[in-house]
Amino acid sequence: MKIIILPHKKFCRYGKILKFNKLYKKNLCDFLLNNNININNNCGGFGRCVSCSVFINEGFSFFEINYLKLNYTLSCQFYDLNCNIIISIL
Ligand code: FES
Repeated sequence: MKIIILPHKKFCRYGKILKFNKLYKKNLCDFLLNNNININNNCGGFGRCVSCSVFINEGFSFFEINYLKLNYTLSCQFYDLNCNIIISIL
């Protein structure tokens, strides 16, 4: 499975494809940070600051609909990655 990160001039200039083999139990923010995408996480992942926001361009339909608000989510609150997604860092 993979996460495609669309280019962002500050965090991921040329975009990136990150692969993972199985269900990733940590949140998306941790996954990005562990893969050298230095996304903001000003509150340390407590869901208070919205600095870690991402837009889910594709793949959102695989998740429970009430988990997301219009394809936008806090990456630190986004757990259990188990499918391909395409994201834009906001
Ligand atoms: S790191 Fe603050 S809301 Fe996600």
